[in-house]
Amino acid sequence: RLDVTELFHGISFPGHLHTQDSLQRALEFQFEDTDILIVSYPKSGTTWMQEIVTLVSSRGDPHLSNTIPNWTRAPWLEHYYSAEVLEASSLAPRVITTHLPHHLLGPALQGSKAKVIYVSRNPKDVAVSFYHFHKVAHFLPEFGSFTEFLHRFLEGTLHFGSWFDHVKGWASPAAAVSNRLHVTYEEMSLDLLGAIKRVSSFLQCPLVEEELNNCGRHCSFNSMKKNKMVNYTSVPEEVMDHSKGSFMRKGKIGDWKNTFTEEQSQYLEDILSSKMEDCPLEFVWE
Ligand code: PPS
Repeated sequence: RLDVTELFHGISFPGHLHTQDSLQRALEFQFEDTDILIVSYPKSGTTWMQEIVTLVSSRGDPHLSNTIPNWTRAPWLEHYYSAEVLEASSLAPRVITTHLPHHLLGPALQGSKAKVIYVSRNPKDVAVSFYHFHKVAHFLPEFGSFTEFLHRFLEGTLHFGSWFDHVKGWASPAAAVSNRLHVTYEEMSLDLLGAIKRVSSFLQCPLVEEELNNCGRHCSFNSMKKNKMVNYTSVPEEVMDHSKGSFMRKGKIGDWKNTFTEEQSQYLEDILSSKMEDCPLEFVWE
C-alpha cells in the first residue's frame, strides 16, 4: 500500500499506515483522563516530544526509550495498528500521538481531561524538513523541485493537510485550555532543559536536577540520531530510502535559509500574515 493515498474528510493520508477505518476510529476514540496526547503537524518536533515525554515519565532513565520503538510507546492514534498496540501495552499513562487537525479530533477530546501537548515549529523549517522527508519516505510523493513542493505546502494540499489549519486549530488562544500545553520546536532547541521542565510540571511529574539532566542528555539531537528506537533506521529500505537522507537530518532552527529564495520567503510571509490574522503567534526564524 506504499503508493496508496487515503482521502479522508478532504485530507490525504499515506495509505501504508492509514485506512478509512483507522482514521474513522480515531475520531471516535474514547480518551481516558490519564492519557497524554502529543499533537503536531509533521516535521514540527513530534519524535522529539515523544522522547521527552517518555524520558520525563521514566525520570530520566533511558531504558524504555532505548528498547521500545517510538511508534509502540507513543503510537499514532490514526495508524491502523494503534488499537492493537494500545491494547497490548502495559504502559501507564498511555502516551498517544496524532497528526490530525483540531477540526477532526477536537470533538473526541471534548470534555476529556486528557493532557494535550501541542508541538509547533516555524513553517519555513517545517516545509524544508518535510520536503527532504518526501525524498526519503516512499509512502510520500516525490516532488521535482522545492518550488513545486512549497506551492503545495502553502496551498494545504500535501498529505496531512494544511499547516495553517493545523496550527490555527490547535494553537489558537481559544484552544489554550488548562489541560493543553503548547511547546515549540524552537523553545526545545534554545532551552531544552527549560522545555523539559515545562513538560514535567504539566505532567505533574517533577524531576530532581539529576533526572532532568539525564532527560536532556538522552533527548539531545546527537543521542536521538544514534538511537535506533527513534531514528527510523530499522524501517525497511522499501519504506524509507536511507541513502536519500536521514530522518534525524539536521535538527536546527533556520535551515530554511539554505533552501528558500528571498522571493519564496517573502511569498510565505505574505500568506502567513493573511491566513494567520486571527491567530497572532510569534515565530522564531533563526
Ligand atoms: S514526523 O515524521 O512528523 O514524526 O517528524 P518530526 O519528528 O515531527 O520532525 C522531524 C524533525 O525533527 C528533528 N528532530 C530534532 N531536532 C533537534 N533535536 C532533536 N533531539 C530532534 N529530534 C528530531 C529532525 O531532525 C527533523 O528535522 P530536520 O530539520 O529535518 O532535521
